Amino acid sequence: MAYSEQVIDHYENPRNVGKMNDKDGSVGTGMVGAPACGDVMRLQIKVSDEGIIEDAKFKTYGCGSAIASSSLVTEWVKGMSLDEAQDLKNTTIAEELALPPVKIHCSVLAEDAIKAAVADYKEKQTKK
Ligand code: FES
Ligand code: FES
Repeated sequence: MAYSEQVIDHYENPRNVGKMNDKDGSVGTGMVGAPACGDVMRLQIKVSDEGIIEDAKFKTYGCGSAIASSSLVTEWVKGMSLDEAQDLKNTTIAEELALPPVKIHCSVLAEDAIKAAVADYKEKQTKK
């Protein structure tokens, strides 16, 4: 199976790989696994007091499409509100990366990860 140029670009030059430490409750972390293949993705967002995502980082143990999907999402969500990030659709990711049908679940993983990160951040705010 051939990977698209977009996938290879993100795979070879992943954006925003890393980990953020949450010192003040401004970081939300989403950790999700793909039942289809056992891959794992961690996606983190740093949110401003105004509710805007200022930074995003990811670490993905998985295939090229999963790495590319999470890399792309970290680029996209920077500057978004939490609601906008939560509305991100895996189909938009899959389209941008030209993922073939067998790799659609990799983009679902990225959608799940950003949703989980937003949910984690929101839950932290209720405990503040
Ligand atoms: Fe999980 Fe691709 S099947 S690495
Ligand atoms: Fe399983 Fe990509 S995340 S093949």
